[in-house]
Amino acid sequence: MGQGTPETLNIDIYIAQDMIQRPRGTRDFGPEEMEKRRWLEGVMRSTARGFGFGEVATPTFEHTELFALKSGPNIVDEIYAFQDKGGRDISLRPELTAPVIRFFVNDLSNTPRPLKVFYIGPCFRYERPQSGRYREFHQFGVELIGTKTPESDAEVIGLAARIMEAIGLKEFTIRIGHIGILRKMLSDAGLDPESSAAVLQKLDKKLYEEARPMMQAVGMEDDQIGSIFDLTEVCGEVSVLDEMEGEAIDHLKGVLDVLSSYGLENVQVDLGVVRGLDYYTGIVFEVEAPSLGAEKQVCGGGSYSLSELFGGERVFSTGFAIGFDRVLLALENEGLEIKFEGLDAFVIPVKDAQRIKAFEIVSMLRRSGVRADVDLMRRSLGKNFKYADSVGAKYAVIVGEKELDQDSVTVRDMGSGEQKLVSLQALAEFFI
Ligand code: HAM
Repeated sequence: MGQGTPETLNIDIYIAQDMIQRPRGTRDFGPEEMEKRRWLEGVMRSTARGFGFGEVATPTFEHTELFALKSGPNIVDEIYAFQDKGGRDISLRPELTAPVIRFFVNDLSNTPRPLKVFYIGPCFRYERPQSGRYREFHQFGVELIGTKTPESDAEVIGLAARIMEAIGLKEFTIRIGHIGILRKMLSDAGLDPESSAAVLQKLDKKLYEEARPMMQAVGMEDDQIGSIFDLTEVCGEVSVLDEMEGEAIDHLKGVLDVLSSYGLENVQVDLGVVRGLDYYTGIVFEVEAPSLGAEKQVCGGGSYSLSELFGGERVFSTGFAIGFDRVLLALENEGLEIKFEGLDAFVIPVKDAQRIKAFEIVSMLRRSGVRADVDLMRRSLGKNFKYADSVGAKYAVIVGEKELDQDSVTVRDMGSGEQKLVSLQALAEFFI
């Protein structure tokens, strides 16, 4: 088939019309974006390590049952679930807490406690995509496994706050509550765990008028319902707890006491924090970045016990997950600028005769740790300068016949245009 025949033209048109797009709610990341993301990951990783946490990784997909057991109806509705070729029910993970606890039950239950782990990786939820809400997104999270003291909870919240500081997020608030208080009120009023979970899902979204008939249906009186609604509105300084008592309140006060030693100013008590996931039993907390508008929750966490559901003994843990993508958006809204590190040197042979020598030089520079690239398209000197400029190379290394006669090359500062002769022996050092 010759060029320009109707057949080839048809193929061209076919390709143009049906360009394959990425799935809804997913994103591609170019080199500059990835540089930012890797930087952010690096800060989070080293901050978590600095608190004594070690990194773990689990599979991207798990048996569906792992998430169906206790994550709550919101998550289960949003799961990407399918049957594999062996007929097994498999789900892409919507979060990493259940997988990490499964890992703990399978392999890590004999390690000294507390076990402090962190993770970073993609999660999948079939949600309605919008700014800050994706179907594939990334979480950076930690789990502190095997303890339920107030100081363990404070350690986790303190780390979340420290990470926000370390990445340079200026505006954020941490709201802390205790889900045990609401759970106890609902069970004292006669709700079974299933009805209680359904009501809590409504309270999480402050959908009081949807929660009310559910509570009335199980025989709750209006004043009981009213006092639960009032409790979810208790919010403010630590002093809002002064007149309150009970085991959960004492625990919460204990957490806040330890946190006060961190000198955090943006911590608020909020007994209305419910969380979308079902497995929390104790303190619950959320971090918000107001610059994000509707999807402002950049981190959520709390204490829970899941291991007994996965065949292990009952073990209490506390953790959080940061919405990595959201936190990056919040930083960008606050004007974060990460300088894209371009090349140190772009090596250009002046003529064909110097091509092999140019490769020798770029190879020597790369071995010495210089970020270097070389002309691969046999372009003219002028076009190579343009390309070097467009990829942000700081210097061009011009490999010409005359310079090579003196065992040297010409180094051109791409910013000022200044040029100087540098001997091959001193070239690597010139860049370091
Ligand atoms: P989560 O609140 O469901 O908690 O998710 C944690 C964070 O992930 C959210 O605060 C949000 O920033 C981010 N996120 C959630 N869904 C999306 C989405 N569709 N697009 C972008 N970002 C999103 C958990 O997942 C728990 N596993 C946290 C935890 C760890 N609790 C104890 N340990």
